[in-house]
Amino acid sequence: MNNPINFAHRGASAYCPENTIAAFAEAVRLGATGIETDIQRTKDGKLVCIHDESLLRTTGLNKLVCDTDYEELDALDAGSWFGAEFAGERIPTLERLLLLAAESNLVLNLELKNGVVLYPGMEAEIIAAVREAGLAERVVLSSFNHYSLALCKSLAPEIRTGILYMEGLYRPWAYAATLQADALHAYHYAVLPEWVREAAEHGVVYHPFTVNDEREMRRLIEAGVAGIITDYPDRLRDLLEAR
Ligand code: G3P
Ligand code: MG
Repeated sequence: MNNPINFAHRGASAYCPENTIAAFAEAVRLGATGIETDIQRTKDGKLVCIHDESLLRTTGLNKLVCDTDYEELDALDAGSWFGAEFAGERIPTLERLLLLAAESNLVLNLELKNGVVLYPGMEAEIIAAVREAGLAERVVLSSFNHYSLALCKSLAPEIRTGILYMEGLYRPWAYAATLQADALHAYHYAVLPEWVREAAEHGVVYHPFTVNDEREMRRLIEAGVAGIITDYPDRLRDLLEAR
């Protein structure tokens, strides 16, 4: 059986400021085989990797990403909040991350953060960028906005989609079929081995998040999940190497 994809959540976010090039590079160094990141859009239409709608928590600027032009956003320090040694880290563009991925074998999980600010048209823009980079086969698009995932699949049937959810959904593989989704990005407590098996029988895989505890990682590996999203790719690497 293939090893599950080791998705570094926002990069190696336990060790570096989340969603920065430092976090992505450290993830690779620590054995990640995939990177999960969050995509929002600036006022002038640049797709950028940042979790929050607001710039406040990670850069100190009390402004929304959607109200900020890229030039202003690019001048912000997205590293110092985490540690002085990361001063000067910036908010990466999606383009930059795609370049990094194109030079490696990484799988990219691009989470569309379009549940609060809807970012109309974002789906087509991300898909165009992914196709342009030649990465359609190595990308999984996910979102808590399932209408958006249905749209992604209709625009790009060749790109995998993953449904993000927190609840103990009833027969989630049947729900996945209604969106033609490929993966279940379930909160890790919403993953039982018998569900993983039944989902697989329906051609649907699990990529649970966010799993930092080693015992829980082991439980999910044994259950047969296809990927695990973690802040600690090194912990997961060690477990997978010991198999
Ligand atoms: O994609 C998994 C996880 O990142 C979803 O939650 O809030 O960390 O983006 P959040
Ligand atoms: Mg995320």
